Amino acid sequence: MATVRSAAIALFVAAIALFVVAQRLLTAVAQSPTYGVGRAPTRAELKAIDIEVTPDGKGLPRGRGTAAEGKEVYTRRCETCHGPTGKEGPQDVLVGGRGSLASPAPQKTVGSYWPYATTLWDYINRAMPFEHPSTLTADEVYATTAYVLFLNGIVGERDELNEKTLPAINMPNRSGFIADPRPDIGPGAKQKSR
Ligand code: HEC
Repeated sequence: MATVRSAAIALFVAAIALFVVAQRLLTAVAQSPTYGVGRAPTRAELKAIDIEVTPDGKGLPRGRGTAAEGKEVYTRRCETCHGPTGKEGPQDVLVGGRGSLASPAPQKTVGSYWPYATTLWDYINRAMPFEHPSTLTADEVYATTAYVLFLNGIVGERDELNEKTLPAINMPNRSGFIADPRPDIGPGAKQKSR
């Protein structure tokens, strides 16, 4: 009986030792191989910061909003910095400047310069309001995006923006950009593996 018991205890101790070693190994793998600090982020942590929206609309969450709805959000959350019609400032001017880009005094705004409406959604979602970024709901972002586009004469007051209609908007300066012709930089360039 005694030998059976001590064999069982030995097995138990070995199992614990194996468990500790396995855990150490796992931690070592998750740490930066160079400096041995930190750990790999969890899936949930990655998801929380994975908010990128690409020009074609990939990454846009479901939601909706119109300029009529966005006016209220804009007045409350944006107007102090961008002015009642988006033209007054004191911070960046968001409206106007169409046709000014080739003039001696180019005025780059969402309406005159930005090539994609989806980028406007992404920017407002991640960076605005300046002092409280990423605090708007998806619907509020659709609505304020619609309002800024409406102020620029790009969408109607009651046009609904959602994950399908937003990428379909043709921004005034969409074709105002030229691809970089340098072979090592331009669109044909092969991505260097890092
Ligand atoms: C406290 C002031 C403040 C508030 C409030 C604010 N913004 Fe801004 N906004 C800024 C500043 C400052 C910049 C320029 C940031 C930079 O260049 O890094 C900016 C830039 C922008 C731009 C980019 C303009 C461009 O052409 O580069 C957009 C679009 C914008 N804001 C939209 C909004 C919207 C929509 C809201 C409300 C939801 C809002 N902002 C609220 C201060 C503010």
